[in-house]
Amino acid sequence: MTWPTPIEWTPGGAVRILDQTCLPQREEYRELATIAAMAEAIGSLRVRGAPLIGIAAAMGVAAALRAGDGRGRGAALAAVDTGCDTLGRTRPTAVNLRWALERVRSAAHAAAGEWPGVAAAVRAEAQAIWDEDRRMCRRIGEAGLPLVPDGATVHTHCNAGALATGGIGTALAPVYTAHAAGRRVGVIADETRPLLQGSRLTAWELGAAGVPCTVIADGMAASRLARGDITCVLVGADRIAANGDVANKIGTYALALAARAHGVPFYVAAPRSTFDFACAAGADIPIEERRPDELRCLAGQRTAPEGAAIWNPAFDVTPAHLVTAYVTDAGLLRRDELVTLMT
Ligand code: MRU
Repeated sequence: MTWPTPIEWTPGGAVRILDQTCLPQREEYRELATIAAMAEAIGSLRVRGAPLIGIAAAMGVAAALRAGDGRGRGAALAAVDTGCDTLGRTRPTAVNLRWALERVRSAAHAAAGEWPGVAAAVRAEAQAIWDEDRRMCRRIGEAGLPLVPDGATVHTHCNAGALATGGIGTALAPVYTAHAAGRRVGVIADETRPLLQGSRLTAWELGAAGVPCTVIADGMAASRLARGDITCVLVGADRIAANGDVANKIGTYALALAARAHGVPFYVAAPRSTFDFACAAGADIPIEERRPDELRCLAGQRTAPEGAAIWNPAFDVTPAHLVTAYVTDAGLLRRDELVTLMT
């Protein structure tokens, strides 16, 4: 099975990303070496998915701080602080971003010694965040394996696969794990308007891995569930509140309602870095609103009148009562068991 590599270090210590805005037409890579370049890449969704933007931002701080530019320790720490602040503002909903940036900020401040020690500590912490995410994805795959029996059809939304993480994905991890175990498994991928992460990215990476995938428009989801042959719905998350409410790509809530109406189990897969126990409920999660033109245009063509009023939230909140269980790196958890993830 092959997975794409959405991020890596360059030999010189910059960050190389697969530009996801070019998929599926072209596999283009970009080298990012400054905070401004990484902020642009995260804001424009060249690099995206809650866990991956955390990893990318942490690596971006390390890249911008490469040793050898003659800065002193104080200037280096100030650069880390402003870099973390800038990157932290790029996307407000995914808590993984803030979580990863606070980790590199703390690592920098805790670094003993002079300037090169700060750069080394930040790079080591960024690598640790990435390595941990890869392991958490594997564990999510194992925890979710019983949900994907031989012959299963899994319905998903947006892209919560290898392109969205530092490993084999969150929602797609049980699918890949089942496929690797020799089980026959197929995926229904919602197209995911307005930016089409389902049709552009999920279908692309599942195709590369040899997992059968059928793309449907978002408005077809209820009809597809009504046919009665969907084993389960499996989606990722950008932030999960203490009460189990889930912020994920816009359209997830509608899919959860349709799943409940048709008696199909609805699972949310996420690593512990996606849980935010400081948010009591979904209403406390900040929801990113994006440019109206993302909805007003499709493939460069205007699809709504120029003056049309547009509402373009990137995420919605699915109430916890619609979630059957959470597939986490600590196992399959019910809502009342989420407290076990608190550190
Ligand atoms: O706006 P995006 O493409 O970053 O949104 C991504 C999602 O909503 C994913 O479902 C979520 O981040 C889970 S990623 C494993």
